[in-house]
Amino acid sequence: MSTTTVAQNDHKEAQDFMPINGTDYLELYVSNSKQAAHYYKTAFGFKSLAYKGLETGSRDFESYVVEQDKIRLVLTSPLKSGTDVGRHIDKHGDGVKVTALWVDDATYAYEEAMKRGAKSYMEPKTEKDDDGEVVTSGIYSYGEVVHIFVERKNYNGTFLPGYKKWESEYQPTSTGLKFVDHMVGNVEEGRMNFWVDFYANVMGFKQIMSFDDKDISTDYTALMSKVMSNGNGRIKFPINEPAPGMKKSQVDEYLEFYEGEGVQHIAVATDDIVNTVSDLKSRGVEFLTIPTTYYDVLTDRVGEIDEDIESLRKLGILVDRDDEGYLLQIFTKTVQARPTMFFEIIQRKGATSFGKGNFKALFEAIEREQELRGTL
Ligand code: FE2
Repeated sequence: MSTTTVAQNDHKEAQDFMPINGTDYLELYVSNSKQAAHYYKTAFGFKSLAYKGLETGSRDFESYVVEQDKIRLVLTSPLKSGTDVGRHIDKHGDGVKVTALWVDDATYAYEEAMKRGAKSYMEPKTEKDDDGEVVTSGIYSYGEVVHIFVERKNYNGTFLPGYKKWESEYQPTSTGLKFVDHMVGNVEEGRMNFWVDFYANVMGFKQIMSFDDKDISTDYTALMSKVMSNGNGRIKFPINEPAPGMKKSQVDEYLEFYEGEGVQHIAVATDDIVNTVSDLKSRGVEFLTIPTTYYDVLTDRVGEIDEDIESLRKLGILVDRDDEGYLLQIFTKTVQARPTMFFEIIQRKGATSFGKGNFKALFEAIEREQELRGTL
């Protein structure tokens, strides 16, 4: 096996100069923020949290913030032509613009990153309202994605200064999604190691795993991936690049339709994947399907598990095991007009890996979708 797990101890001397408490929010630039917010509420079980737009004095942009447990999505659209948000949507379609990282000191985080070669997106700034103050700063990552550092220890408001609470009588029940487990980036061929080095050198992340085209290939397509994690493991960013294959890989398809590098999928964790996925399906979320033969050999491959195999088969949930335990996972179809971003639902029962044993079944499922789109 060509998978490499890099022992944490190898990097112990590297002290964590970039402490991060977790993902603060993800901001998506979308063509219709109002309808996107409704989709995430209705289909995924998010609740209305905050709003910024004409009613709050925001003349150029409208943002709806939805929340489920520790996951916050900000959905932003322009209110006029000629904006940078509009240009971003014209080029990329709907997609993730900001991965906001919750830190104790956004000025310090920015200065440390800049000292180590980051490209500035936004110098530290303090915004205040009646609920206190928030300091934010930002740096560029791959493509047009940015990381915004959010320091909110002196803030008691709903979300951020400039937003008002979004009161809504329509608050669907949660589907059990709890937090962002990891977020995957697709980068151009030959650029994976550049971004691995960026996260290591600029952000102090460690490489915890790598996969090459021997792990991740089917008869047609191949990709390579390295997983970067921050010091406390709360932020995990796998980075994919396409490897030459007989046909166009899923990463190639993404890069073509997104017109550049960007976020491929957001993995969100649940404590009960069978109930979460049943619920999501009943609300209209579409998932990739796996041939039922996958389940015929499942117990041979992963051993005994707590879940009823028949339920997993019915829902198409995948299982994989590593040295520390097992995990259950499933992938949605892409969630916007372009075949670019999708979600993963994941439940970890000890396993800290990413489901390598499922890559083949998963990529064949993606290829069936690509075949239908004529992009294989
Ligand atoms: Fe994933």
